[in-house]
Amino acid sequence: MRVYDIIYKKREGKKLSKEEIDFLIEGYTKGEIPDYQMSSWAMAVFFKGMDREEIGNLTEAMVDSGDRIDLSPIEGVKVDKHSTGGVGDTTTLVLAPLVAACGAPVAKMSGRGLGHTGGTLDKLEAISGFNISLTREDFINNVNENKIAVAGQTGDLAPADKKLYALRDVTATVDSIPLIASSIMSKKIASGADSIVLDVKTGNGAFMKEYEGSVQLAKTMVEIGKEVGRRTVAVVSDMDQPLGFAVGNSLEVEEAILTLKGEGPADLTELSLTLGSHMLVLSGVTKDADEGREILERAISDGSGLAKFKEMANIQGGNGEVIDNIDLLPKAKNNLEVRSKKEGYVQKIVAEDVGISAMLLGAGRETKESEIDLAAGIKLAKKVGDKVDSGETIATLYYNESAKVDEAKDKLLGAYQIGDKKPALNPLIYEVIK
Ligand code: URA
Ligand code: CA
Repeated sequence: MRVYDIIYKKREGKKLSKEEIDFLIEGYTKGEIPDYQMSSWAMAVFFKGMDREEIGNLTEAMVDSGDRIDLSPIEGVKVDKHSTGGVGDTTTLVLAPLVAACGAPVAKMSGRGLGHTGGTLDKLEAISGFNISLTREDFINNVNENKIAVAGQTGDLAPADKKLYALRDVTATVDSIPLIASSIMSKKIASGADSIVLDVKTGNGAFMKEYEGSVQLAKTMVEIGKEVGRRTVAVVSDMDQPLGFAVGNSLEVEEAILTLKGEGPADLTELSLTLGSHMLVLSGVTKDADEGREILERAISDGSGLAKFKEMANIQGGNGEVIDNIDLLPKAKNNLEVRSKKEGYVQKIVAEDVGISAMLLGAGRETKESEIDLAAGIKLAKKVGDKVDSGETIATLYYNESAKVDEAKDKLLGAYQIGDKKPALNPLIYEVIK
């Protein structure tokens, strides 16, 4: 087999066989196929697409490139939740304890933030002492005993994807449905969950900005999940503005605590309840998503979700007292109110630019090696549809390091599009695909 022929075949829009896909992924993982051939192939896939069978085979080849985590020592149906990436997306911090409090085992492997997107591990480290590097044994024991563990990935999961994703990132081949679907699902399958709830973002802050593309991506992933025997549900949700008000690690922990107390932002609360209700159905706690929602609402009003957050923090070495006293979270020395230069209604808040602004303040990493400032971030004061006067505060920036504050402020101002008319509001949840 020659790589040239495989690239040529895909360029001509023909279907690749399982053997050809295996050959490509194996060769690339081992370093036998160079980046330039792989990028050419990725571009051919971008333009010509793949059919369902090819996408399934690509996913499997990427799973087989690395380890598979065995979660079978954990009792019950393990359900994982994954978001296709957002800005200020605080849902995992809310959902992990909330769903665990309702009796579903939560064995969550999370990642760190990069660029304009945040990562759950960084957020949890805003709780002093919180240990995200659990041994396999502790991870399993914690879930069996307390229903919850959130930790960094162990093992070498889908190394083919790690290489390919980095390559796609610099060759303008990220936003391709076959490539995104196989990338996400290979990691989810390798990490061992029995069932998966996907939060597929759509809008300016998402990988797939167009609605049709997002739905297609969601359907593709649900089908792949089913094919490999993992029940999968996808919720298509809006990312035409950041979720909630807080963007930044310590600020998002605070927002999650508020949400678990029933005092959180409406959009974050609603999305958490929707995703959580499907998690409860897939894990067998209830048969019905509406009932799942009621169970979750009860866990908010009786405080059991919040108590589970505290328990998780304490068990993983963190200072659980932060749940009762948010002043114990890292706090930035400085803040700056960003004021609108115009009067009108907020039409849009370009989520990616808000993420970049937060990154410039120190909340995110420009490169994998950058240090982050857990206290830095942004609290939005206005969301889409809100009326703003000229000179009114639209957001507050929190920072310790002032070098890039002006740049961050300009980025944030640019993220807000303000117009004369009150805009029609997007739904938060577009569709649930099962
Ligand atoms: N997230 C991933 O893990 N992979 C993609 O391709 C896009 C988003
Ligand atoms: Ca948020």
